[in-house]
Amino acid sequence: MTTLDPHALRRAFGSFMTGVTVVTTIAADGTPLGFTANSFCSVSLNPPLLLVCPGKFLSSYDSFAHCPRFAVNVLAEGQEEVANTFAGFKGDGFAPTPHCEDDHGNILIKGAVAQFSCTTHRVVEAGDHAILMGEVEDFHHHEGRGLGYTAGQFFSLGLERAALEHAGRTALLGAIITQGEDILLEKTEAGYRPPQVISTERQDVRRTLAWGMSARGQPVTLGSAYAVFDDASSQCSYFLAKAETAATVFTRRPIRDIPELTFATQAISEMMRRFALEAETRSFGLYVGDARRGDVHHLPERT
Ligand SMILES: Cc1cc2nc3c(=O)[nH]c(=O)nc-3n(C[C@H](O)[C@H](O)[C@H](O)COP(=O)(O)O)c2cc1C
Repeated sequence: MTTLDPHALRRAFGSFMTGVTVVTTIAADGTPLGFTANSFCSVSLNPPLLLVCPGKFLSSYDSFAHCPRFAVNVLAEGQEEVANTFAGFKGDGFAPTPHCEDDHGNILIKGAVAQFSCTTHRVVEAGDHAILMGEVEDFHHHEGRGLGYTAGQFFSLGLERAALEHAGRTALLGAIITQGEDILLEKTEAGYRPPQVISTERQDVRRTLAWGMSARGQPVTLGSAYAVFDDASSQCSYFLAKAETAATVFTRRPIRDIPELTFATQAISEMMRRFALEAETRSFGLYVGDARRGDVHHLPERT
């Protein structure tokens, strides 16, 4: 038998694009539990069955492997923070996450595009994971798109399509890069602006931006699209990003100082002021329009 390289195998598995779910249950002692999972799969319509695979490494593994009921919440575009919270947050992940308990005693995450409330059908041990099969007792399905995940990164089809639909001349791709409580900016004669790259290539904007930032000496992890608008010479797309290194080649300023800074253009100034406000509540919208007028799209509140 050949020995497989586990890292290469993980990367190959990771090339399969999935959605993102948070699986919840209530432990025997009443503690609410949840973990982020992309191993969700629908199994059968009649009877209505689904499955998800909790890993034996989970601190909550024993509870999920023996739970009489559980819920699967399919996260919506914009719920990256919820996914991150239930993928490694130490402490009560439910405290910062809007949720409710349904009539079946399952915990539902608010804002999810679909919520499946299940009784446990079967648990099958499978290597370093278990296959937890549930019979769907009740479900809710809301308008909207699910959050995507591939190759270790979240993606949002709707937002990225909106970024591409604005076909124009050259593409200006900017990164609103945070480093803890700070923002990284580049200084120009006209004022500050988010670090940017100019591209004539309209495809694969995220890869172009991520590569461009690395080439400039600032590797970043890109998040959602944040603003898409046309200015006089280019079509501008800005993405949220997190700095991957402690040191930076850009100017580092506290996010709370943004209202006092001079920015290179009026459009950038308005976008950055919106960012400073939204950073306080961590509820980021997507601006689509031109340099003067447009709409900010926020995800609707749902139960
Ligand atoms: C997108 C994504 C998908 C994940 N999918 C699974 C999964 O299907 N099964 C699993 O056991 N862990 C999965 N994880 C990892 C767990 O969410 C993570 O290890 C867990 O929340 C840690 O919880 P603990 O601190 O209570 O052990 C995933 C993480 C992410 C970010």
